[in-house]
Amino acid sequence: MANLIALGLQWGDEGKGKIVDMLAERFDVVARYQGGHNAGHTVKIGKTTFVLHLLPSGILHKGKQCIIGNGVVVDPKALFHEMDELRQQGISDFEGRLFISARAHAIMPYHRLLDRAHESELGTKKIGTTGRGIGPTYENKIARSGIVISDFLNAPLFREKLRANLAYAKKVIQDDVPELSFDHLYETYLEYGKRLRPFVEDCSLLIDRAIKAGKQVLFEGAQGAMLDIDHGTYPYVTSSSACSGGVCTGVGIGPTQINNVLGVIKAYTTRVGEGPFPTELFDHDGEALREYGAEFGATTGRPRRCGWFDAVIGRYAVRINGASMLAIMKLDVLDHVKTIKICTGYTYQGEHISELPMEPDALQACEPVYEEHEGWQGSTVGITDYEKLPQNAQTYLNRLSELLDTEIAIVSTGPKRDQTLVKNGTLFQE
Ligand code: GDP
Ligand code: IMO
Ligand code: MG
Repeated sequence: MANLIALGLQWGDEGKGKIVDMLAERFDVVARYQGGHNAGHTVKIGKTTFVLHLLPSGILHKGKQCIIGNGVVVDPKALFHEMDELRQQGISDFEGRLFISARAHAIMPYHRLLDRAHESELGTKKIGTTGRGIGPTYENKIARSGIVISDFLNAPLFREKLRANLAYAKKVIQDDVPELSFDHLYETYLEYGKRLRPFVEDCSLLIDRAIKAGKQVLFEGAQGAMLDIDHGTYPYVTSSSACSGGVCTGVGIGPTQINNVLGVIKAYTTRVGEGPFPTELFDHDGEALREYGAEFGATTGRPRRCGWFDAVIGRYAVRINGASMLAIMKLDVLDHVKTIKICTGYTYQGEHISELPMEPDALQACEPVYEEHEGWQGSTVGITDYEKLPQNAQTYLNRLSELLDTEIAIVSTGPKRDQTLVKNGTLFQE
C-alpha cells in the first residue's frame, strides 16, 4: 500500500475519521501531523460511536502504532480526558503504541483564555474558533517562545519558560484566575509531565525506522484544505498546515517518503464557524442536508452550515494537495434530493471565472454558477458496488470526478465501516 496521506479537501468534517479507521487495518502506523483537539473525527463501529479529537483514528485498531507528530498542538488535560473516555469504551492499550513527539507544542490554559479574548476583540469579525486555544498556541510557537512536551520533563526549563509565558499572557488577560497562577500551573503540568513520560518520543526517527523496516504509514489530516493557514480562506482558517505539505514538517520526514494522497470530500459542502462559503444554502435544501447528514459539530456541537458541492474549491484543493484519488463521502445524504446542484464556476466582478481568485478575501464576493443534476431519489445506504448505485448517482459521481480531474477510489454510503464502496481497479481493492 506504501505511505498515504488522507486529508480533507473542504472546510473539515468530510469524514476523515471514518476513512482513516477503515484504512488503518492495511497500515502499521497512523500519524497526525497538525491541528489539535479542535478536530472531531467520528468513527462508528457497530452500535458504538467514537469521537477522536487528538488521538489518531488508528487507535481503535489493536496493535497499530499511533503517532502525534511535532506539528500537532497538544493539550495534556484534553489528551488524558480523551484517553479516559476511550478506556470506558474498552480501548486501553496505549502504552507501547502511542507516541507523542517531544517537540509538539503544548496548549496551556492561558492559550484558551487568549483564544477567547481574541475572538471577543474581533466582535462581528470573529473567526468562530473552537475555543480550544489552537491559534494562540501556534502563535506562541512561531514567536519562538512556546512550551514543548519535553519541557514538562525538565523542571528548571519548564519553570523559566512558564514564567515568561505567563508574564506575557497576563498583559492581555488581566483577570486573577487560576489559569494564570504560576504555582498552580507549575505543579499541575509537572504532574502531567510524569503521566506523559511513557509516551514521549522522537517521532521523526520512529517513523523513519518504521519505513526503513518496510512498514506502512497512514498520515491523518485534521481540518481541511480550505482551513489551511496558507491556502485556505484566510483569515477564516485554522492556524496549522492542514494540506499535504504539512506532513513533512509536521512529523519530520521528506516528501520522497510519501507515495499517495487521498482527498476526502463530501458529496456536498459544509462549514462550521465564520467565513466565505459561496454555495451555502439558506433554504429548505440546506435544512434537509443538515438534517439527513446530521450536520452538527463533533467537537462543539454547533450546527454546520450546508451547501452544494463546489467543484472550483474541489479542483483547487486537489491541486494544492496533489491528491491522486478521491473518497466521496455521504452520498446517501443526497438520496432524497430532487434536483442536485454542482457549482462549476463563479461570477466575480462581472466575469465568469473557473479558478479561485488569487486574493484570499475575494471569495466573499464570488457568486456560484451552477449546473443541475436530476436526483436519484432512492436509497444508496450501504451499497458497496458502484454498478449497483442508481444510474443518476453514478452520473453525479462521474461528473464530480471529471470536474476535479481525479479518479474516485472510495464512495461512502453511510457512517459505518462496512457502508463503504471501494471501486474496482483502485489502490484499495484487495
Ligand atoms: P471528520 O472530522 O472529517 O472525521 O468528520 P466528522 O466525524 O466531523 O463528520 C463526519 C460525520 O459524517 C460523522 O458524523 C460521520 O459518522 C458521518 N459520516 C461519515 N461518512 C458518512 C456517510 O457516508 N454517510 C452518512 N450519512 N454519514 C457519514
Ligand atoms: P475536523 O478535523 C471543521 C474551524 C473552526 C473555525 C476555524 C478556526 O473535525 O475536520 P480553531 O479552533 O482551529 O482556531 O478554529 O476552523 N475548525 C474546524 N471546522 N472541522 C474541524 O476539524 C475544525 N477545526 C477547526 O470552526 O472556523
Ligand atoms: Mg470533524
